[in-house]
Amino acid sequence: MVFSPAHLQIKDEDDGYNKNLFCVPKHYEDDLERVFIPHGLILDRTERLARDIMKDMGSHHIFALCVLKGGYKFFADLMDHIKALNRNTDQSVPITVDFVRLKSYSNDSSMGTVSIIGEELTAFKGKNVLVVEDIIETGQTIQTLLSRIKEHEPQMVKVVSLLIKRTIRSSGYRPDYIGFEIPDKFVVGYALDYNEYFRDLNHICILNEKAKEKYKV
Ligand code: HPA
Ligand code: MG
Repeated sequence: MVFSPAHLQIKDEDDGYNKNLFCVPKHYEDDLERVFIPHGLILDRTERLARDIMKDMGSHHIFALCVLKGGYKFFADLMDHIKALNRNTDQSVPITVDFVRLKSYSNDSSMGTVSIIGEELTAFKGKNVLVVEDIIETGQTIQTLLSRIKEHEPQMVKVVSLLIKRTIRSSGYRPDYIGFEIPDKFVVGYALDYNEYFRDLNHICILNEKAKEKYKV
């Protein structure tokens, strides 16, 4: 029997790596507690997600929807891996892209509401839609978005999230593809932010308490 794990699970007691073992921008050096998921590991896992997605969706035109802002790095790297598969395997499908911006966070806690900003959810009718998210925590944001997409009668909707948080605040929602399941910690980097900072950091990291104060709004 082939054992096929659905995602890579990071345990509660795993607290990542000493930041001095990696390269981080000088302007964030004093703000980081630990490097949690190194950039290289994110890319390696993303490569495999691309393969899994193409196996399921690779027979029809894929309509890829990036959830901004936090999803932009993962989206770009995932698309690059899917494009590589399209170039190098017999199976190849056109990909079109679109972007939607959602906001539900201030400081390190959810505001409890989800606003879809600059929305013009294009014609999804009959399309195979791939929603690309950075992180799923309560599941509220993605479920709000999904119900809006489904009003447009797509043929298929799949969701890929780079991260999913193990938390009691979860609604129980699980996306179709998960990069990493992480403990209930606030993380930044690789386009995930704390009040708009730390998107310009390659690794996914944990902040120290001083940084949470320093960048508080
Ligand atoms: N980091 C950044 N943004 C987030 C997080 C997180 O841990 N959870 C939900 N949005
Ligand atoms: Mg955010």
